[in-house]
Amino acid sequence: MSNSINRRNWLKQSTLAALGLTASLNSLGGEDYLPKDLGQLLPNSNPSLINLGSNENPYGLSPLAKKAISELIGQAHRYQYNIPHVQEFRKQLADYYGVTTDHLLLTPGSGEALNLLARHYSKGNLVTATPTFGILPNTAKKIGVQVKEIPLDGQQVHDLEAFSKAIDPDTAQVYICNPANPTGTVLHPDKLRAFCEEASKKTVVTIDEAYIDFLDAPYNESMLSLVKKGNKNIVIIRTFSKIHAMAGMRVGFILADPSTIKSLQENYFGNSNFCMSALSLTAAMASLKDTSHSIQSKKLNAAARQYTEDALKRSGFTVIPSYTNFIFFHLKQYKGDFAADMLAKNIVLRSSELPDGKYCRVSIGTLEEMKAFLKTMESMKFT
Ligand SMILES: Cc1ncc(COP(=O)(O)O)c(C=O)c1O
Repeated sequence: MSNSINRRNWLKQSTLAALGLTASLNSLGGEDYLPKDLGQLLPNSNPSLINLGSNENPYGLSPLAKKAISELIGQAHRYQYNIPHVQEFRKQLADYYGVTTDHLLLTPGSGEALNLLARHYSKGNLVTATPTFGILPNTAKKIGVQVKEIPLDGQQVHDLEAFSKAIDPDTAQVYICNPANPTGTVLHPDKLRAFCEEASKKTVVTIDEAYIDFLDAPYNESMLSLVKKGNKNIVIIRTFSKIHAMAGMRVGFILADPSTIKSLQENYFGNSNFCMSALSLTAAMASLKDTSHSIQSKKLNAAARQYTEDALKRSGFTVIPSYTNFIFFHLKQYKGDFAADMLAKNIVLRSSELPDGKYCRVSIGTLEEMKAFLKTMESMKFT
């Protein structure tokens, strides 16, 4: 290998390492989003990078959340359970979703909920999609759980019939990410509800609704309605990382029947409510009230997504219709490591290989960032 290629590889690896993506640009979701080295932060490594790799909300925290953090900073030396105002969060969140606080379990990011759920329901096999968001299935595999991976259908949507067939008496959990990551597709709520009702007679069904706030009717119906009806085998996963733009603040939560929450807390989740930062909780409380921030984020995301989808289609790409804050599209005949090659041009995104070829998952940034992404795309060779 020549010196210049060595140097290029080294530069590529250093940048990847700084992003915590060394082993991961070609995988989507899962442990790949966990920084390998927390000491190396993105802005210091390369300020001109455009990060479209992690489905974050590019518009930043709600102004009310920022204000709440600054107002609470003087009490940051206290544990959150010693700050009465912060203690109201669980009640506020429960009221918001029309449940009681014993339906609720806080987790430091919903990714941790997924990690612990894989461990909690590990006495039988896991049925999930491929591709899907990786944390839950990756943890399951790591601890020796059999994972039955059901390919998405031709439209890159969950194949619920195949899921039903895969569930057997040994199935301990079904995991469905709806809307789906990495494809951005969604199931019709009637279809998903019917599946959940049937499957939950046999096993626990975990529905990851991380991106539900980007949906419009009729798709924006949560499976929480089943929990409210008393279904003990439905577990709903939510996060403040997406529409609330709080990915760095690590606030996730589980909604489930009180008996299910109790059994989780008696096991791996015993410490979960305690793991939350007071500053993150006060920010979440404020953000929950700031509906104009969520509405604006959703609107701006939809506009930038439409712009990007249209431009990609005009350039002849097959784009999977997205309902989320990211787009999944086929990379034609691209030769090479697309994500690594885009990184060399300062754009962070994900690419992966499916049976019908290579795909890219690009997060929706600001319109300006998407224009920069599209401009860079023009310099790439796809044949
Ligand atoms: C489907 C899905 N679930 C969960 C998460 C984890 O999010 P967090 O741990 O930030 O709540 C992500 C992150 O991208 C995701 O895409």
